[in-house]
Amino acid sequence: MNMLAIETSCDETSASVVANGSEVMSIIISSQVKIHAEFFGVVPELASRAHIENINPVICRALNDAGIDFVDFAQKIDAVAFTAGPGLAGALLVGAVAAKSLACVYKKPLIPVNHLEGHLYSSLIENKSVKPPFLGVIISGGHTELVTVKSFGKYRILGRTRDDAAGEAFDKAAKMLGLSYPGGPVIDKMAEDGNSQTIRFTRPYLKGSWDFSFSGIKTALLNYLKANPVKNKRHLSDICASFRQAVAETLCFKSFEAAERFDLKQIVLGGGVSANSLIRKLFLEAGRKNKIKVFIPSLIYSTDNAAMIGCAAYFKQKKCGLKYSDVQLKPNPSLSFENW
Ligand code: KG4
Ligand code: ZN
Repeated sequence: MNMLAIETSCDETSASVVANGSEVMSIIISSQVKIHAEFFGVVPELASRAHIENINPVICRALNDAGIDFVDFAQKIDAVAFTAGPGLAGALLVGAVAAKSLACVYKKPLIPVNHLEGHLYSSLIENKSVKPPFLGVIISGGHTELVTVKSFGKYRILGRTRDDAAGEAFDKAAKMLGLSYPGGPVIDKMAEDGNSQTIRFTRPYLKGSWDFSFSGIKTALLNYLKANPVKNKRHLSDICASFRQAVAETLCFKSFEAAERFDLKQIVLGGGVSANSLIRKLFLEAGRKNKIKVFIPSLIYSTDNAAMIGCAAYFKQKKCGLKYSDVQLKPNPSLSFENW
């Protein structure tokens, strides 16, 4: 089952050919970071325009790398998957139109995929043996969700962020600190040289709820900076390390508490924030201590990419069949997690 998968929900134009959900025959990711950096966030209109420019070359390169061209497309590709939401409306439309056009021309089934399900299953690309039940921890620039996965396509959302997503908190913190966008990787790097015990930022555990709230840590940072402006590079590294520690401990504590409460022996991470080196370390350590297997995608599959969409689409069609070929399908910017 060869799938051409397309991802354009935010600021990465990506296409990938994935065989049987886990064999990545090609993956192309064209990042728009440079375009959005000066605005410290993704500008939707600029994102849509860049997707329009990038989508055709990205798809062509992905097909080419997989040894496929437009002559043997019909023979070699079995279905076209695309991110149907959530995401930026204009950005989603570009990927959807490309996917629908190819599906229409080559008479291939079309598989709409929820972006969050892509992140949820991204670890399974490299760990074919992972099977539900597991606890999914989706931590990205737009989402922070704890979800139990009873079987493929059977979800229960336990909690989500009440305000900022984990990645958003990193991005906003970086802006306050005068660092560049996206903030997550920069803070992560600066933190490596710092002392995480310098400042004790609040840990918003929200007892009695599985929700998250990161705006408190962000405000604590703002208040700290008002009283203690950054003195030098050493001080900056200490602040980054302390901030990263607070976010990572909060995510780790709540995830393991949920795994224990729901008796889940596997935790599967996904989303750009799962690229964070301390988060990876704390989850793996806690997993060993609590005898819970922890799966974290490689860096390339942590942030937005089309291979994860091909992986999620594979599981979806395995359960539901290849019945999604409705070219009237519209992407939905606020698509919610739905059971299959
Ligand atoms: O999953 P993703 O690529 O896009 C969304 O679906 O949002 O995640 C992007 C987010 C950004 O907020 C970025 O700052 C964050 O992931 N991120 C990180 C790291 N690498 C990317 N956050 C913390 N540490 C990192 N190393
Ligand atoms: Zn994402």
